[in-house]
Amino acid sequence: MIDGWQVDAGYLTGAVLFIVALKMLNSPVTARRGNLVAALGMLIALITTLLSLREVQQMNMAYIGAAVAVGGVIGLVSARKVQMTAMPQMVALFNGVGGGAVALVAFIEYKIAFDSGFKMDSVPLVTAIISAIIGSISFSGSMIAFGKLQELLPGKPITYTGDKVVNFLLLAGVLAMAVMGIVGQPSVALISGLLGASLAVGILMVLPIGGADMPVVISLLNSFTGLAAGLAGFVLSNTALLIGGALVGASGLILTLLMCTAMNRSLENVLFGAFGTGGGETASGTTVGGHMKSYSVDDAAIIFSSVQNVVIVPGYGMAVAQAQHVVKELTDKLTKMGVDVKFAIHPVAGRMPGHMNVLLAEADIPYDMLYDLDEINSAFPETDVSLIIGANDVVNPSARHDKSSPIYGMPILDVDKSRTVIVIKRGRGVGFAGIENELFTMDNTIMVFGDAKQVVTKLVGALDNF
Ligand code: TAP
Repeated sequence: MIDGWQVDAGYLTGAVLFIVALKMLNSPVTARRGNLVAALGMLIALITTLLSLREVQQMNMAYIGAAVAVGGVIGLVSARKVQMTAMPQMVALFNGVGGGAVALVAFIEYKIAFDSGFKMDSVPLVTAIISAIIGSISFSGSMIAFGKLQELLPGKPITYTGDKVVNFLLLAGVLAMAVMGIVGQPSVALISGLLGASLAVGILMVLPIGGADMPVVISLLNSFTGLAAGLAGFVLSNTALLIGGALVGASGLILTLLMCTAMNRSLENVLFGAFGTGGGETASGTTVGGHMKSYSVDDAAIIFSSVQNVVIVPGYGMAVAQAQHVVKELTDKLTKMGVDVKFAIHPVAGRMPGHMNVLLAEADIPYDMLYDLDEINSAFPETDVSLIIGANDVVNPSARHDKSSPIYGMPILDVDKSRTVIVIKRGRGVGFAGIENELFTMDNTIMVFGDAKQVVTKLVGALDNF
């Protein structure tokens, strides 16, 4: 058993480790260790909690140990097995479970208070009710997000006439029940109804959002879970939960807003705009107007034989084709030929934050070859070849000048300013935003049609001749 200053010291150590870990997650170089530091912080907080609670001592510790072991093994196995492309749905699942746990804790605290003559002060009562609502919304919303990304549910926005009115009425019902729960007679039926209605809000809130917008939604729900966990920490007087929840809530919200800014869309547009082609897939087959110059791989290889610098721009298509390892081979080959190779990373290339960084890291492409949009944009006028591998929206020049474009104002990689642009994609399909890309018909652009992995593999082979 521990008490007083020992508990405070345990929680403080955990909280400091969480903050240090967040800082380390800032860079791909330290992110791995950052995860371990956060896990250590969580372990310390968990042990501190178990050792500080008298009730836990009376319970059968074996049950708690077994639950931790089962949860730990599920977490470990799934984290090791998950494909990089399935990461968003895994985050959705874990986040949802966290929200559900918070809602259950709030419900149980309420039930315990009810069974013992309802001696709950008003502040913990309000906090418990709010965390029950937010936790339930986060749980059911995350499960729908998981279903969409895993293609168990249609990725397209699911809408119906009057859906916004239904959502509004349901939300009003949740708020009314919450007020009754706070000022009215204590009732387990009421809090159960509140949980049920909040679950329905989560489902109906996420159904009308397109599959490809799910990363933003998951980040927002993650922020909700953090907020709910922080409130639960308040109810349970658990400082580590309170601080950890606040950190998750704040960082989730910041990430959500950063993603929206990088896509030049408001959060309102993401939540209520029913935007996107759904399911994350591109609308291949939709034709882009104008004449595109189609080159063979061998013709493209000739261009590479006489260049001094190349900027590679990876996009969602590279992830779909799983072309990152052959891209590494291409990088090595070009470097051996004396070509200066850089990678330009757009903040929302792909379908999740850091998507390209993770794939390129998996292929052992050195971090110092990766340049952010702000760092690389001024280099394009001096670039011999910009090689676009499965990217589309993030290199669409219409974002700079076409006010009618849905991506107008989104910062893009200015590849069109380079001497030659080589685009690898399967056909004339549009990207996530569903719009044509004038880059593909520009005078300095040539297209090499085909699957990214196959084309880059052939290109590496063709460069052997130089
Ligand atoms: P997109 O604009 O989605 O374009 C991807 C392109 O890849 C398509 O035009 C497609 O053309 C091509 N492609 C697909 N499979 C391919 C394959 N196997 N081989 C070669 N090419 C293939 O991608 P982007 O430029 O990376 O832009 C990302 C978009 O997603 C942005 O609009 C962004 O706002 C949005 N978004 C991003 C995030 C995050 S956090 N990253 C979250 C939500 C939404 P073909 O069909 O002709 O091959």
